[in-house]
Amino acid sequence: MTNDGSSAPRGKPVRESEVTMARQMMPADANPWGAVHGGVVMKMVDEAAGSAAIRHARCQVATVAIDHMSFLHQVSVGDMITLRASVNDVGRTSMEVGVRVETENMLSGERHHTSSAYVVMVALDDRGRPVEVAPVIAESPEEKRRMAAAKIRRSQRKVLEKALKQSADELAEPTPVSAEMLAGRENTRS
Ligand SMILES: CC(C)(COP(=O)(O)OP(=O)(O)OC[C@H]1O[C@@H](n2cnc3c(N)ncnc32)[C@H](O)[C@@H]1OP(=O)(O)O)[C@@H](O)C(=O)NCCC(=O)NCCS
Repeated sequence: MTNDGSSAPRGKPVRESEVTMARQMMPADANPWGAVHGGVVMKMVDEAAGSAAIRHARCQVATVAIDHMSFLHQVSVGDMITLRASVNDVGRTSMEVGVRVETENMLSGERHHTSSAYVVMVALDDRGRPVEVAPVIAESPEEKRRMAAAKIRRSQRKVLEKALKQSADELAEPTPVSAEMLAGRENTRS
């Protein structure tokens, strides 16, 4: 319950839940030729997004979707990976968290933007059911731009989900038997 007597959760600025994570890549993270597995980076993206979502919602969260993720530059053993995660927008129980991944060659200092991903996290109560989360407050122009983009992605996800369900339902429906087909069947019997 808030001070004004309403039960709606209060808004929280984006900066209060931002997360930065960094880790140097080790041989166990890579293939025999020293190239880091994409799955290692994806796991770190999921962890960073989860931490930002928990900071925002202050409850357990579950990953429900990870949007398209490209790997723009190879990551090698010895590189430092830095992930920055922030809550872009909030629905009712879900949050879109944006994660930017950068790598640094520790010997040369060369840095690259390696990946970006949008992770949808759902806040859960103690029984694992989706629970309402506080709105997020975008303050800077960059945060406002990310929020507007997140709203577009959210509506696009719904359009895609609806279209895929409609297509699956249509394919699952039995082929209608026309009156002509039935008449033809009758004719072959006589
Ligand atoms: C998270 C979970 C409890 C949500 O259950 P659900 O029945 O989908 O609940 P709802 O339909 O009420 O959806 C909850 C929210 O998630 C969103 N959501 C659900 N599926 C989604 C998807 N595929 N993509 C994006 N958002 C999705 C809904 O839009 C809704 O958001 P909103 O409240 O902000 O509008 C359930 O999907 C689950 O347990 N999934 C497994 C999560 C998990 O184990 N993750 C780790 C994988 S290893």
